[in-house]
Amino acid sequence: MAEYNDEPLEHEYDGIKELDNNLPRWWLGLFYLSIIWSVLYMFYYHVAEIGYLQEDEYRLEIDPNYTRAEQSGGKLLGIIPEYRTPFYSPAGDVTPRSAMTSKGIKRAVLLTFETDTVSYLAITDPILLNSGRESFAKLCSQCHGKLGEGGVGPNVTDDYWLHGNVITNIVKSVTYGYPAKGMIAWRGTLAPDDIINVSSFLMTLHGTNPPNGRGPQGELVEN
Ligand code: HEC
Repeated sequence: MAEYNDEPLEHEYDGIKELDNNLPRWWLGLFYLSIIWSVLYMFYYHVAEIGYLQEDEYRLEIDPNYTRAEQSGGKLLGIIPEYRTPFYSPAGDVTPRSAMTSKGIKRAVLLTFETDTVSYLAITDPILLNSGRESFAKLCSQCHGKLGEGGVGPNVTDDYWLHGNVITNIVKSVTYGYPAKGMIAWRGTLAPDDIINVSSFLMTLHGTNPPNGRGPQGELVEN
């Protein structure tokens, strides 16, 4: 406990005296903790720039493909394609085909929170893919075509992608949409698992070359 000292200090204003008491220990403890915290915070966000600040977070929110370029003295050091947690596992970013064909990968993994930091694996489980097929027929085909050939929305069977074709990109496209361009954000409507299922199904359409395919949009992605 704090010690109390009833001796008043020298000064006195309008009859108000100040006692010379120590600050309570818990208070001092919090005070020192806040100093330590501020150093860690400063290092994380401003020195090492591991964390995204508000502006980056905002841009990421409105454009899932936002990339932050690291500048240092005018020199481009590299591009961080996405914010990654320290627990990020690159295995989550395998390309669709390799994910689909590599044995043993059955399900989406690492889906814990709905954030920009989560990585996904495409699923290969036929039952879940079938559930994705049903969602696609119900919710997506009016714009992307029954076979994914495109219509109002882009062709999702070809090698051209506006927003990238790895599962992480697709999941983001579906989750956040591009409301200004007519692509709905499906989070809210579809549960995270359903988003994974429909995204994984969509990736199986790649290379199927359906009739009346809409022409290329976006960049050629080879894999
Ligand atoms: C109302 C029409 C509409 C519906 C419904 C719709 N989309 Fe889209 N989608 C679009 C448009 C338009 C774009 C192109 C966005 C752009 O230009 O940035 C798009 C883009 C996409 C992309 C990115 C394609 C690329 O080239 O990178 C994916 C993936 C996608 N949609 C998946 C889906 C899925 C899955 C569903 C169903 C759950 C769905 N869409 C439903 C209109 C739609």
